[in-house]
Amino acid sequence: MLTTRLDRSTARAAVSFANLAPSVHNSQPWTWRIGDGSIHLFADPARALPATDPDGRDLRLSCGAALHHLRVALLAAGIGTTVHRMPDPRQPAHLAAVEPMPGRPTPQDLALAQAVERRRSDRRVFSTWPVPPEFLDELRDAAAAQGGLLQVLEGSAPRDLVARLVEHAAVEQALTPGLAQETATWTGRARGAREGVPAANVPDGPDGTVPVRHFGAAEQRQNTLGEEETDGTVLAVLGTPTDGAVDQLRAGEALSAVLLTATRQGLATDPISQPLEVPGTRAQLRGLLGDGGEPQVIVRLGWAPMSALPVPRTGRRPLADTIEPLDRPWPSGPAS
Ligand SMILES: Cc1cc2nc3c(=O)[nH]c(=O)nc-3n(C[C@H](O)[C@H](O)[C@H](O)COP(=O)(O)O)c2cc1C
Repeated sequence: MLTTRLDRSTARAAVSFANLAPSVHNSQPWTWRIGDGSIHLFADPARALPATDPDGRDLRLSCGAALHHLRVALLAAGIGTTVHRMPDPRQPAHLAAVEPMPGRPTPQDLALAQAVERRRSDRRVFSTWPVPPEFLDELRDAAAAQGGLLQVLEGSAPRDLVARLVEHAAVEQALTPGLAQETATWTGRARGAREGVPAANVPDGPDGTVPVRHFGAAEQRQNTLGEEETDGTVLAVLGTPTDGAVDQLRAGEALSAVLLTATRQGLATDPISQPLEVPGTRAQLRGLLGDGGEPQVIVRLGWAPMSALPVPRTGRRPLADTIEPLDRPWPSGPAS
């Protein structure tokens, strides 16, 4: 049966799914408001990371990922959506208004919704197995369906460049006032923390192809590969045609689509945003995107080795803390 009914309990269930979306430093920088027949997404300026993410790009990407997760959850419940992105220019924190429309999920849509609970950011070395080209085609299509452009980096030169840019960005950020404090606040968390990156999700050993961002503490056992084996990481840059606030929201939706599709394929994934947070390294990344696209985030993909331990699930805020009354005054903040 096709439905456009969006009752409160369905809306809350969909929001609890959406809250499982990835976010920079697991900051979950969003709040929701549930109206009669609509769900509204807001950026939460109190959860911004001004030293790490001075432009608010990661914040909007994170909110875009939550928006896509919400749409995936609703569709799995038989509810399609019409999305009005940044519906009120006077309220830049109001990122989206989502209205129901008739929807009929395909088996692929249902499989994507199942991937929401399985997806994790995996920062460890990946196995040497190659990612099949048809998988990468599917990921490009998933990004394109959300308005994103996924450029897979072929050959060692662009991959080496990305590795260098991650290091350069880290050096530059080390000089940024407040960065060390922000990293200490949001990372190195205990297992079971409701927000932030737990130490149990950061590998303790040597890095893979791309250096992992410096987090507060690292207690996850690194994967070991056999002799002669190398990390089979695939790196891809996700971009958009232009770089406004709506593009960044859409980039987050495309990121979510890529990560969930890859999870459905059985791949391990990890978003990397550090070189996008620094203007100089971001400008260099632009050169890797053909057709003049604007880079938004890097995605690392691959197969976890057969022997790899499962990646622990990171925590999320209680659902009630993420939903605000519809009539609360609009937040002002760094969303524009
Ligand atoms: C916009 C964005 C940027 C991110 N940047 C990085 C990054 O640079 N390095 C990294 O290891 N993880 C990065 N992540 C992954 C988050 O740290 C991760 O989503 C969060 O800790 C929640 O864990 P989970 O993805 O396993 O649910 C990013 C995620 C998003 C959405």
